[in-house]
Amino acid sequence: MKNFQVNKYGYFTEDGKEFVITTPKTPAPWMNYIWNGRWAGLVSHTGGGYSFYLTPRDNRLTRYRYNCLPWDQPGRYIYVRDKKIANYFSLSWAPTIELKYDYYECRHGLGYTKIITENLGIRGEVTYFVPRDYDIEIWLVKLKNLTNERRDLDIFAYIELIMGNALNDLINQPNDKHFPDVYFDGDLKSIVATRRYWVTNRGVSVAQPNHAWPYYLIFSTSLEIKGFDGDKEKFIGRWRSNANPEAVELGSCFNTEITAGDPCAVIQSELELEEGEEKEFVFFMFLVDKPSLHTNERLKRNSKAYNKASEILNKFKNLGFVHQKFDELKKYWDDYLKTLQVKTPDEKLNLFVNVWNRYQIAVTFDMSRNAGYYHGGLLFGTGIRDQMQDIFGELIANPKRVRDRILEVCSYQFKDGSMLHNFFRISRTGEKTGHCDTPLWLPFGIITYLKETADFNLLYEKVEYYDGGSGTVLQHLIKAIEYSLNNLGKHGLLKFGRGDWNDTLDYVGVKGKGETVWGSEFLAYILREVIELFNYLGLKQFLKKYSEEYLKIANNINRFCWDGKWYIRGFKDDGKPFGSSKNREGKIFANPQAWAVISGIADEERTKMCLKSVEKYLDTPKGPKILHPPFTKVDPSIGLATRCVPGKKENGAIFNHVASWVFLAELIAGNAERAYQIYHATLPLNNAIDADLYKMEPYVYSEYVTSPDHPSFGEASHSWLTGSSDWFFKSVVEYMLGVRPTYAGLLIDPCIPSSWKSFSVNRLFRGVEYRIEVLNPDGVNKGVKEIWVDGKKYGDRILPVF
Ligand code: GLC
Repeated sequence: MKNFQVNKYGYFTEDGKEFVITTPKTPAPWMNYIWNGRWAGLVSHTGGGYSFYLTPRDNRLTRYRYNCLPWDQPGRYIYVRDKKIANYFSLSWAPTIELKYDYYECRHGLGYTKIITENLGIRGEVTYFVPRDYDIEIWLVKLKNLTNERRDLDIFAYIELIMGNALNDLINQPNDKHFPDVYFDGDLKSIVATRRYWVTNRGVSVAQPNHAWPYYLIFSTSLEIKGFDGDKEKFIGRWRSNANPEAVELGSCFNTEITAGDPCAVIQSELELEEGEEKEFVFFMFLVDKPSLHTNERLKRNSKAYNKASEILNKFKNLGFVHQKFDELKKYWDDYLKTLQVKTPDEKLNLFVNVWNRYQIAVTFDMSRNAGYYHGGLLFGTGIRDQMQDIFGELIANPKRVRDRILEVCSYQFKDGSMLHNFFRISRTGEKTGHCDTPLWLPFGIITYLKETADFNLLYEKVEYYDGGSGTVLQHLIKAIEYSLNNLGKHGLLKFGRGDWNDTLDYVGVKGKGETVWGSEFLAYILREVIELFNYLGLKQFLKKYSEEYLKIANNINRFCWDGKWYIRGFKDDGKPFGSSKNREGKIFANPQAWAVISGIADEERTKMCLKSVEKYLDTPKGPKILHPPFTKVDPSIGLATRCVPGKKENGAIFNHVASWVFLAELIAGNAERAYQIYHATLPLNNAIDADLYKMEPYVYSEYVTSPDHPSFGEASHSWLTGSSDWFFKSVVEYMLGVRPTYAGLLIDPCIPSSWKSFSVNRLFRGVEYRIEVLNPDGVNKGVKEIWVDGKKYGDRILPVF
């Protein structure tokens, strides 16, 4: 595909691997991630964003100001100052956004962001990235003199630091500022920064921990260093801002070091550029371990940490090495994407599934709903529910990482089968909220992993329970199910607890009586999957019980929850139904319709009827809504959903996660054309055409798009961290293109638009590349006539494992 212009702000490059933003004044900060699973940063198209190590709440490295004006600040800034004319600009446009630039371009690529600007006759190019195998953040810079005279420049690289607990930074910064130490180490030729005291309290608390932040942060460059600053107040100057730091304006750092105050890291270097000359250099930032949690000493010469720091400094001051790391990063993503490539007649679908949708779910695998522009990384930690859904893309490229994640999640299960709802790495804390679906996502993750890999050894790995003792993964799985089966209410449905998948139905079941239809369908789905697994493995013990329980739950849903044309959403604590035609508002919800089909509890007639009802009541030109009509009156017995404004969030928005399940349900029901229509109605590439309305990044899914029930119909919010990216991907690949992992092998079962005459899927499966070509000469939607494997007709729809 040629460069694909999405809207007036940007386009995809021909190979699809970069999204190029051609004007900085986008309708919102458009983000990207630079990360390797340990060191992580968000980078916007203006250099804005923050970095963290392992976890964004407890170990935030750099500062990003929520609700900042101008927004999207601070960031990773490099100011270039011409000595002769005493004028300067920033290479990432921000924070010097009032200046007139001659050129601006931002290239968001896979794991890197490159910003190119021209100003004052200088062309600057800065590439931000994190290598896969070093926990280091790199800002690789090229400067070119576009004029025909020699230029004498000063370069200032600037970052604002937190080094520790970001929540504490928000609530107690004036006190927290007594603990940072920042100084310049003349031998290492680097800024060294640390914090004498590290708050690891999990919430707002006066309880005091008793330890230091366990690292020294090193900030350095390949250039000779002329000056530095560690004191933000001094560098910026009083009553000034990032747009006009005093040091930059004067052309000279103050060489400040602090043992208390607001920390930053600034390095000043000089650069001469002859007419037309271009030079390249690098700034970088990394951590080394402190020898003890009970020391406030500076980094000691010849200590282990010091030697480690020198070793890394030597490596990364070498531009050849930095380029090698960048090339390796590009190769990493090329190899990653190669593990699944589709070619269909639909170029937009190809671009999304092959590159950006897949990339987005690599991000959700590591960020879950934790660290984004709309998820501050302070409150939720890693949600078990989301984490176990965020594995579909990673699984194909890196099954080992998914395996490790499943083992980690097992360790947050209690002996009785209940679960922490979320967890924070490092502190290994979390909250047990009582959402009824949370325990069941563990079996979901395990089953998804096993179908892909057939690595049944996983089931016999031992993992400790959160409250002590240990059990095999298989025991963890059984406990999750048993816990849920012991948690049924009056109608034999799963009790709602503090919510199910829908967090905003948080008061339906607080008194312990309310029941959820979606949750019960999810339980039925898990039971059906576990029955299939146990059958395959010959694990007889629970088979009979689970088969009976599946039928019971399916019957209960069909008996008590069929409303005539659709399934209700549940029963409240007082036993009254909601999501029913009897209600005045919130009469129909999409979740129970989609999952009635996905879990197989709806017969053919009800499948047809409930999907038709979704089409009739929930459809919009931008996809199906989560419910209708939205709540205009607060219903305290339902909760937050009814407090959201009609048409947004869970109160009637086009909530893409749910839309992806409706899409999947339509595919399972065999309605290819309708499913395809939903796919395109929700595809960001289509909705972002009107960028000023849509606002979010065109290259990733957003959590929701406002529905026609609100005046801002078509506006999206909460981009990047959404389960819709994972489910749209899975549903397209496994149910639309129909190449689906089963224990026995890859099943072929497409459900495609009849206009598609052919398509192909190249996919790595259990270490072997499958090149699958599907021909549709008769223009049907589904049904496989014959299968050929390696030139021979093959009698099964499940391809062999080689
Ligand atoms: C958000 C949450 C997710 C939840 C959904 C619906 O996306 O991260 O966990 O399922 O909202 O409430």
